[in-house]
Amino acid sequence: MANDGDTGNPDEDNARPSMWGGRFSQPTAEFVARFTASVDVDRRLYHHDIQGSIAHANALEAAGVLSADDRDAIVRGLVAIRTEIERGEFRWDPALEDVHMNIEARLTELVGEAGKRLHTGRSRNDQVATDVRLWLRDRLDEVEQRLTDLMARLVDLASEHTETVMPGLTHLQTAQPVTFAHHLMAWFEMACRDRERFRDCRRRVNVSPLGSAALAGTTFPIDRHAVAAELGFDAASANSLDVVSDRDFAIEFCAAASLAAVHLSRWCEELVLWTSPQWGFVTLPDAYCTGSSIMPQKKNPDVAELIRGKSGRLIGNLNALLVLMKGQPLAYNRDNQEDKPPLFDSADALCDCLEAMSGIVAAIEPDPKAMRAAAEVGFAVATDFADYLVRRGVPFRDAHEIVGRAVALAVERGISLAEIPFDDLARLSDRIGEDVYDAITLDGAVAARDHFGGTAPAAVRAAIETARHRL
Ligand code: ARG
Repeated sequence: MANDGDTGNPDEDNARPSMWGGRFSQPTAEFVARFTASVDVDRRLYHHDIQGSIAHANALEAAGVLSADDRDAIVRGLVAIRTEIERGEFRWDPALEDVHMNIEARLTELVGEAGKRLHTGRSRNDQVATDVRLWLRDRLDEVEQRLTDLMARLVDLASEHTETVMPGLTHLQTAQPVTFAHHLMAWFEMACRDRERFRDCRRRVNVSPLGSAALAGTTFPIDRHAVAAELGFDAASANSLDVVSDRDFAIEFCAAASLAAVHLSRWCEELVLWTSPQWGFVTLPDAYCTGSSIMPQKKNPDVAELIRGKSGRLIGNLNALLVLMKGQPLAYNRDNQEDKPPLFDSADALCDCLEAMSGIVAAIEPDPKAMRAAAEVGFAVATDFADYLVRRGVPFRDAHEIVGRAVALAVERGISLAEIPFDDLARLSDRIGEDVYDAITLDGAVAARDHFGGTAPAAVRAAIETARHRL
């Protein structure tokens, strides 16, 4: 099999540029070298590649496979390479295919023989799986922090608006009044579940492949559990074939990221509606909007629209990884090199979207007057009217019918339910008393839903209190 050069045999590594020259009588075709190279993408893994290599060198030394001097030379070389890379002084060579072989080749240039011993008992198959897991673990920690930050900002904004009444919608039509805080706390709940999904994903990401080598394990007595512990992994993987091949952990991340992106997209859809002059519920900070090159009055919610748009990329990336995986027999196949562009892109896009959303939530300016005015139209209190009748003994279905007729009357006259004179209401049902007007105010309607999970200011204040502890 061409290019399957990772046998764990230390003698296979010839001098630059080819790592598998021994078996081959022809050099790699130029096109094939370009087609198979991944260094432009996977060089992002350099930090974690070096981290993994240092742990592997330590394990080889502990197993008596490497001398302490060789191990020290390797570690010194790897640290020097990290500095070169971070200073932009490292020469990435596409002829060396990927990040792993670029770093290893440079290591050998820097420390000689010892560098050639590093790949003992290891393959790029367990190496790349390790790198990606370490990399993703860091990104997951970043996502956790960004999500928590966003959740904190939602709670802060909500705590200022427990009395702000807005129309609650179903089918985008006026349904029942809700508090703005309750709406924001709905977003908070979605974010909280997203964070749980990422935390859960992290548990399965945080497993060490090292020691699995190409597919079957290694003949060297590496303490796999010690390597795992050194790298902060919770465990060593239980099956070498599985861990070098499956990318389900990356797929899980992309799935959780897609869901989070879908949530952000929904919120942004609402922001786009709310910021239009027809709604005017909120104003976005100028710093988060852009203007139009032709229409001087425009202040467009582009950032919100882009967040909504990015969800498409994230869903696409998830799909790409699922399809990438589905046809693969055990164990490692080169298909898996294609896992990185979608994975990296999803992590980048998600982090950007979270940052953008936090910025928006921190600086958003709600207009409680506009929200209340919007809640006044569309008969948002009709259910409260019906509930009033039920409390006076009318079966709900009959109450529904009576209020329906009241709404028709109000529509005909172009007034609200509360503006219908009492005599007209009394004609609809003898159960209606003058106190009905108290039951059908916006504030009365929200205050009446005072239970766990409800929209009443008191209930939402309690939810906010609990939410602060969940941060
Ligand atoms: N660049 C490869 C990847 O990302 C590394 C593993 C290559 N292994 C191999 N046997 N060709 O998957």
